[in-house]
Amino acid sequence: MCGIVGYIGRRQAQPVLFNCLSKLEYRGYDSCGIALLGDSIQVCKDEVRVKALEKALPPIAGLAGIGHTRWATHGEPSRANAHPHCDCTGRIAVVHNGVISNFQRLKDKLISTGHVFASETDTEVLPHLIESYYQGDLEEAVERSLADIEGSYAIIAVVAGEAKLVVARKDSPLIIGIGDRENFVASDVPAILDYTSRVVYLEDGDIALVTADGVRVRENGARIDRAEHLIQWSVADAQKSGYEHFMLKEIHEQPRVIRDTLREYISADGLAAEVIPSGEGGLENMLIAACGTSYHAALIGKYIIEQLVRVPVKVELASEFNYCGQVPPGSNALVITQSGETADALKTMKKLKEAGCQVLAITNVVGSTASRIADHVIYTRAGPEISVAATKSFISQLVALYWMALPHARVDLRTLDELIMELRQLPARVQEVLDNEAAIREHARRLARFNDVFFIGRGANYPVALEGALKLKEVSYIHAEGYAAGELKHGPFALLGAEAPVVAILASDHTGEAMLTSIKEIRARKSPLIAVVEEGNEAAGEIADSAIIVPRVNQVFSPVINTVALQLLAYYAARERGCPIDFPRNLAKSVTVE
Ligand code: M6R
Repeated sequence: MCGIVGYIGRRQAQPVLFNCLSKLEYRGYDSCGIALLGDSIQVCKDEVRVKALEKALPPIAGLAGIGHTRWATHGEPSRANAHPHCDCTGRIAVVHNGVISNFQRLKDKLISTGHVFASETDTEVLPHLIESYYQGDLEEAVERSLADIEGSYAIIAVVAGEAKLVVARKDSPLIIGIGDRENFVASDVPAILDYTSRVVYLEDGDIALVTADGVRVRENGARIDRAEHLIQWSVADAQKSGYEHFMLKEIHEQPRVIRDTLREYISADGLAAEVIPSGEGGLENMLIAACGTSYHAALIGKYIIEQLVRVPVKVELASEFNYCGQVPPGSNALVITQSGETADALKTMKKLKEAGCQVLAITNVVGSTASRIADHVIYTRAGPEISVAATKSFISQLVALYWMALPHARVDLRTLDELIMELRQLPARVQEVLDNEAAIREHARRLARFNDVFFIGRGANYPVALEGALKLKEVSYIHAEGYAAGELKHGPFALLGAEAPVVAILASDHTGEAMLTSIKEIRARKSPLIAVVEEGNEAAGEIADSAIIVPRVNQVFSPVINTVALQLLAYYAARERGCPIDFPRNLAKSVTVE
């Protein structure tokens, strides 16, 4: 969490830093700050969003500076705890993303030698340490300080009077954007897309000296050349393009995202490009791990693979697996992570590798830490996802999972052809859901007045219910729970009633009958009921109070269609309640701490 930026070059740094920071707010937004570098250092920070700080400041001259947008770990959101942090002299400033686990010991030692601290953060030990080592060479002082540090970090340090940024990373992402007589540093690519598409990814342990004219990277003290990459994402990908919120834009991008992700896996002659070579054990003994929405994709992946390939799949929450999980011998491991930076998912990857597994990653971010740890990578082509709520990345993960499973499907060739055909038509079906937006918005308007909502589904639509509930709670702050429909009567029934609506996903498959029974039981408890039903099955939906009609697809693909409808439901409920949809309270997009 937290986003850091740095700039040095020919422009005034202040507007550049604010522009870059505004693109990183998805990483944390409880406070922010900048430091402008000249003969002295000017720090401006507060417990406000980036736009508000930008508005509050007069222009401050300076061709270099650093910035930070925070998701609090050590110390509450406040002006004092906001970054940048300085040493006692105010001549050294640092921004940091990560956690310094031995900070208290270092802080006590520094205090005993006369250092005075101004915040409760772990980060503040860094400028003080750098000060204690500084003898006219910032790079050397940073290097010596980092040798004392335990934990994770992406940092940028500056010292008054030296036109340079010193940057370093370990277990937290950091990129350098290469410009013409100017260079940029950022936690993530979208921050710098307005200025350059040329990017160098730093590796763990790298320390780099960035000036307006060049970048020099060192690893273990030795000079090293890190390759430059050309980023394919466009500036428009990271802008709202006329939509009120990124979440709505990203929901609407999904037909294109499915097409782009499929294009990745379909060879020119139209046949499936196998993403899992059968020679490597195929999909047998598959263990999938992930967090949050990506975990829901993993659960749906289990249904997809078990149904099509008929081999059992184990799914784990990465955060639990890291402490209690066992790796069955011979496992094929898959980790799903949109950002490729989620701390729990990365820890799982390392654990799986230590256990001798070949690890495959599905990720959306080229150059992310996950992509570098993994033995094989499947990239989704969702483009940058800015809204904290994952939408298009989830759908692209499902597409990747379909494409992993299809070449191994134990079905006859005709059925396989039909499935591939349907997969290709999914963008059009998703568009039909989007075309029904006005009706879904009406359902959302009614739902928005409640404080507790249940989502239920069966089979592959059980994880869809989990995802529908997660989406609703994170953007609208309505308490929502997803349940396997059959489980509701084993406890949650106690909460049903006129004030506890239920959203029921009614698939037209072998679970349909049982679902109808569940719906009747719920109706008898007077809970308002919204059914999500397919075209042609409207009659079944009539036993609910109201129905969201979605296009009919092969049941294997119904999670895609139903999820898109529930994303719109969550979005419009949040909008009705006036919530800050793209940046919900207390959350951050990349959860880079455990
Ligand atoms: O980047 P990842 O896919 O690893 O992120 C995992 C979760 O933090 C993420 O899916 C989170 O649950 C979403 N913000 C929910 O919308």
